[in-house]
Amino acid sequence: MAWGACIAALLLLLLPAAGGGNGGVHCLEEGSRSRGRRALQGRQHLRSRAVAGATVLELRHHTFSSAPSKSREEEADALLSSDAARVASLQRRIETYRLIGSSPDTAAAVSASKAQVPVTSGAKLRTLNYVATVGLGAGEATVIVDTACELTWVQCKPCDSCHDQQDPLFDPSSSPSYSSVPCNSSSCDALQVATGSVSGSSSSSPACSDHQPSCSYTLSYRDGSYSRGVLARDRLSLAGEAIDGFVFGCGTSNQGAPFGGTSGLMGLGRSDLSLVSQTMGQFGGVFSYCLPLKDSGSSGSLVLGDDSSVYKNSTPIVYASMVSGDPLLQGPFYFLNLTGITVGGQEVASSSGFTTASKVIVDSGTVITTLVPSIYDAVREEFVRQLAEYPPAPAFSILDTCFNMTGLREVQVPSVKLVFDGGVEVEVDSGGVLYFVSSDSSQVCLAMAALRSEYETSIIGNYQQKNLRVIFDTAASQVGFAQETCGYI
Ligand SMILES: *[C@@H]1O[C@H](CO)[C@@H](O)[C@H](O)[C@H]1NC(C)=O
Ligand SMILES: *[C@@H]1O[C@H](CO)[C@@H](O)[C@H](O)[C@H]1NC(C)=O
Ligand SMILES: *[C@@H]1O[C@H](CO)[C@@H](O)[C@H](O)[C@H]1NC(C)=O
Repeated sequence: MAWGACIAALLLLLLPAAGGGNGGVHCLEEGSRSRGRRALQGRQHLRSRAVAGATVLELRHHTFSSAPSKSREEEADALLSSDAARVASLQRRIETYRLIGSSPDTAAAVSASKAQVPVTSGAKLRTLNYVATVGLGAGEATVIVDTACELTWVQCKPCDSCHDQQDPLFDPSSSPSYSSVPCNSSSCDALQVATGSVSGSSSSSPACSDHQPSCSYTLSYRDGSYSRGVLARDRLSLAGEAIDGFVFGCGTSNQGAPFGGTSGLMGLGRSDLSLVSQTMGQFGGVFSYCLPLKDSGSSGSLVLGDDSSVYKNSTPIVYASMVSGDPLLQGPFYFLNLTGITVGGQEVASSSGFTTASKVIVDSGTVITTLVPSIYDAVREEFVRQLAEYPPAPAFSILDTCFNMTGLREVQVPSVKLVFDGGVEVEVDSGGVLYFVSSDSSQVCLAMAALRSEYETSIIGNYQQKNLRVIFDTAASQVGFAQETCGYI
């Protein structure tokens, strides 16, 4: 693996425990965050190319921060708080969709309460997200890739409120192929269902009014950040592949530090208005990504289309079936049945979690894998047992299983495997098992956290998806995994 990446401050070598399978030595690089931030601010377009049967977009970490550089601990704290806020927001959205089917009134109530989440005061929230560059209208947009989002949106002129972005603002008036989506269109109906603004059966819709003939949208996120504007159509270009009449949100009022530096967001969810659904004709409802191990300076790839010959996977692809059921109730989320977890080859027992399959979502935008308490506790117990030789360290933010590894040159990391329905085993890269809070390794934590209640939904976060090819096949309702050393392929 990438030894060349280790020339900066080498902190600690992580050796996968014997039998780990993906055999690699990983290193952490000090100070990589600040370099990444400069790179993004210095207006850098990410590459893309078309190959037979697929389109490949370069992915990079989005590490923009509007705050002046902080200590490593402060950065980690901001990142994990932001992540916890996303997890809480996802729980509310998952619940809203679940209720849409059962009781429209309750769904509306939940959705209304969502809109009242206060903005976290003054906190410069940021998150570990991935960005890619696409063409829209006559310009380019560098957007955050989000598998839990229903709709692609970009900041639009004239801006009532916009965050800083590296690309010029999208200007509808200078794009001849631009049009707004009328209220009475099916896209507007789909949007209302997607954003939970109405139950799906109601005809009175807040997206339209007499003096507002076009369809307006509001998306609110995690920490109270939001994007508001009108639903529009324009030509989307993905490495020369043009998608005419692509429906997206033209956001004239946008707020939120996590988006800073980007033009907006690419909605890769499973619902009708997502990029995946809208490009069904071109890409067959299949996309995949490979997220690089290092925080910055390295690239991964987003592949649209089902041509698996472009992947650089080193193990065969294994597929887990998405949970079956009413798509309306599942919203944009990719649900799998998690049936087990092994730590260092040892299957963890859980009091209730694995007696029946546990529904989890696979998410590109959540960082830390967050599990229902019964499963998390079982993982933690086994992890602590296997790392008993290291002195414990205090908990940090949402991470409560920490060790003091100061002065150690090497540490054996137990291999962690996620097991899905049908016995599908996915090994987490050894670089995605531990989270280094401090640069002196005095606080090294298990990179997983517990949800507040058994009734919430576990989330597989991107920290545990690094160096994996993760394939979302909406046509065959399955998610594939294979080991891959991620790069721009
Ligand atoms: C939407 O409304 C416009 C203007 O009232 C009308 O011309 C058009 O046919 C309607 N479209 C649909 C799909 O109902
Ligand atoms: C997932 O688990 C549920 C509940 O145990 C079960 O009904 C379903 O068949 C399982 N598999 C899929 C692919 O949905
Ligand atoms: C970690 O261990 C080192 C050496 O054993 C010790 O000096 C240091 O105080 C410990 N740090 C914490 C935060 O426990």
